[in-house]
Amino acid sequence: MQFKNTRERFGAIAGACHWLIASAFILSYPFVYYVVYVLERDRSNPLFLPVLNVHWFLGIVVGVLVIPRLLWRWMNIEPEESPGSKVEHLLARLAHWGLYALMIIMPATGYLGTGGKTSATIDFYLFEIPRFPNTELFRLLQIDWATFEPIMDGIHHFSGQWLAPTVVLLHIAAAFYHHYVRGDTVLLRMLPEGAGAWLRK
Ligand code: HEM
Ligand code: HEM
Repeated sequence: MQFKNTRERFGAIAGACHWLIASAFILSYPFVYYVVYVLERDRSNPLFLPVLNVHWFLGIVVGVLVIPRLLWRWMNIEPEESPGSKVEHLLARLAHWGLYALMIIMPATGYLGTGGKTSATIDFYLFEIPRFPNTELFRLLQIDWATFEPIMDGIHHFSGQWLAPTVVLLHIAAAFYHHYVRGDTVLLRMLPEGAGAWLRK
């Protein structure tokens, strides 16, 4: 197994990080929308906190994994750009950096905007982390929670509802376009080696 990237393809580490983050990012949606639309944000429903907890947990997984993902990216070579115009390459780069930005902004604003109304910690059952308003950093920065929370919530909700789904769906469409229309290796080089055998052209 090739761990590092080569000029032809992403290695196992970059691939594992990509698919773990992608799964956590996408899976965070059904959980939060179950809370929003099925439980209608009813805090007294016994499922409210456990389901929202899963959303938090998946979001934190994204926020934690993006750090080694970016470090590994800087330590490695990148696969060569697939054949295409300068504009296409620019758009692909913009989309990738947009996705990296979302992988940081979404968990950060989710965590920073989750207030201390119900308890001092965010409980993940296996472990707990303090809510931002209950941390030493919050006290040191002398943040006014009443002003700060709506800003964080606003960014989290707008990016979560509109920006992230748009960029992610375009990204997925581009991957399938490359594979099924262009017939190049863009999708295959992010998949485990040998995946081409079962992925129909
Ligand atoms: C990959 C990271 C994340 C994504 C993509 C994401 C996405 C979303 C989306 C789409 C919504 C619903 C917005 C709406 O339609 O009103 C939402 C709400 C929310 N998120 Fe996240 N989120 C992420 C991480 C987090 C994290 C790490 C936390 C907290 C630790 C968090 C806490 C919340 C809370 C409290 C809500 C409000 C739920 C409600 O309206 O009752 N999120 N998030
Ligand atoms: C079914 C879902 C997905 C598919 C099929 C997919 C496919 C791909 C493919 C084929 C590449 C390689 C592109 C290239 O070689 O130029 C890639 C790269 C990338 N993907 Fe995804 N992806 C998916 C979901 C996601 C999600 C949800 C995120 C983040 C929220 C994401 C973030 C990225 C990033 C940042 C890169 C650039 C990697 C780099 O060059 O460092 N992907 N994806």
